[in-house]
Amino acid sequence: MDHSEIVFGILGNAFHCPVMGEFEYLENALITVDTAGRIQAVLRPEEYQSSGIVQALEGQGRLQRLTASQYLIPGLIDLHNHAPQWPQMGKGLDLPLYDWLSNYTFPLEAKYQDLEFARQVYGDLVQSTLSSGTTSAVYFSSLHLEPSLVLAETCLDKGQRAFVGKVCMDDPDQCPDYYRQSAQQSLYETETFNHAVAGMKGNQGLVSSVVTPRFIPSCTEGLLKELGQFATANDCYVQTHCSESDWARDYSQQKYGETDISVYERTGLLGRKTLLAHSIFLTNQDILIIKDRGAGIAHCPLSNMCFANAAMTTRELLDQGVHCGLGSDVAASVTPSMLRSCFDAVTHSRVREEGTSTHRPAGERGESNTRISLVESFWMATAGGGQSLDQNIGLFKAGFGFDAVVVDAAVPDCDLTIWPGMDSPADILEKIISTTSRHNVTRVWVQGRQVIDKKTAG
Ligand code: GUN
Ligand code: FE
Repeated sequence: MDHSEIVFGILGNAFHCPVMGEFEYLENALITVDTAGRIQAVLRPEEYQSSGIVQALEGQGRLQRLTASQYLIPGLIDLHNHAPQWPQMGKGLDLPLYDWLSNYTFPLEAKYQDLEFARQVYGDLVQSTLSSGTTSAVYFSSLHLEPSLVLAETCLDKGQRAFVGKVCMDDPDQCPDYYRQSAQQSLYETETFNHAVAGMKGNQGLVSSVVTPRFIPSCTEGLLKELGQFATANDCYVQTHCSESDWARDYSQQKYGETDISVYERTGLLGRKTLLAHSIFLTNQDILIIKDRGAGIAHCPLSNMCFANAAMTTRELLDQGVHCGLGSDVAASVTPSMLRSCFDAVTHSRVREEGTSTHRPAGERGESNTRISLVESFWMATAGGGQSLDQNIGLFKAGFGFDAVVVDAAVPDCDLTIWPGMDSPADILEKIISTTSRHNVTRVWVQGRQVIDKKTAG
């Protein structure tokens, strides 16, 4: 075997989900990484034992062995995060969406004109998301061009795979005067931002720009059309909020007599590289259109619990094969942890469940078959996110970017406990999804580069 392309190898126990709804436990596997940061091979003991590769890599100091308490999982993918809202996290989540945006979000986002403030907050946010195991993040920035570039540069500098959008808002009916741009300025700055991100020194595809109309109430139809034309002509990523609450859904109906999806489709904003946050109130026709275009949905379970006044039809979307991943929706959440989003996606799916009391007739309360499993939620935060982004990430598979996280159960004072002889691989994965805290995340790699290394007792 030719080992010259291999930069390093990791030997240990790993979990991933090559098929939606199923997990694979790779016990004592050897994962090798090439000079481009891609996975070169994933080998089981019977495949590497007689080859001498482990000894060769170890002899050259290029082998990392995981301990028995450490598990490797694919890097977590956050499909929806509002970077400037990081200082807002934990505030006002008992308010309706419109009040929350007006009272907290818009005044805070307006502060990012101050570049020094942007540097401080974005440095802290990107460090925290990486430290929680988020190797890829799709960010809304603020309205401002230069501070949005600060966010893109921070991601590149710290080594996070990122998709960053300068937010567009021009409708005077819904956007405050202090936090709004003209359609012309919004489009010009979107074009400039797109160009600048592609040209950032050292950016070899790690950071991409995203065309970002905030949501239908914040944009005039003219701006939506201009952004749609630009995104189509330049094959850009697009992100926006879609049918996220009663209020937002009704707004589109009243203004256009259409669903959000119909408006995005008509204005050229819906394609393979479009990410739709929330998407709670979809019609059957909407779902067919999303599927046909290959757009992705960012399910944000905790945020939906706060603002949607309804539950997401995750089970149905997954069953229909719609591209679907998870988003933290910081700051409409209380943590950037994508494993917490996994757990919340499961509980969210269960609130729709039919009551099963023998005293109540079937169908009286709730619906049947709404539940998703912990493994399905983990698929969404890894492989499903990669599929939504149309990127080769989220799996341990040759040719995929080596984005990976070590979860260590041996760190002191934590809830993740694995009991020898009592926990099967399925139990261990469920515990990792449900109880991992940031302290358990001890090492993180993005595209083969180690970006987090916490020295631990383990
Ligand atoms: N809809 C429009 N803007 C926002 C935002 O910043 N957060 C959430 N959760 N929903 C939105
Ligand atoms: Fe959001």
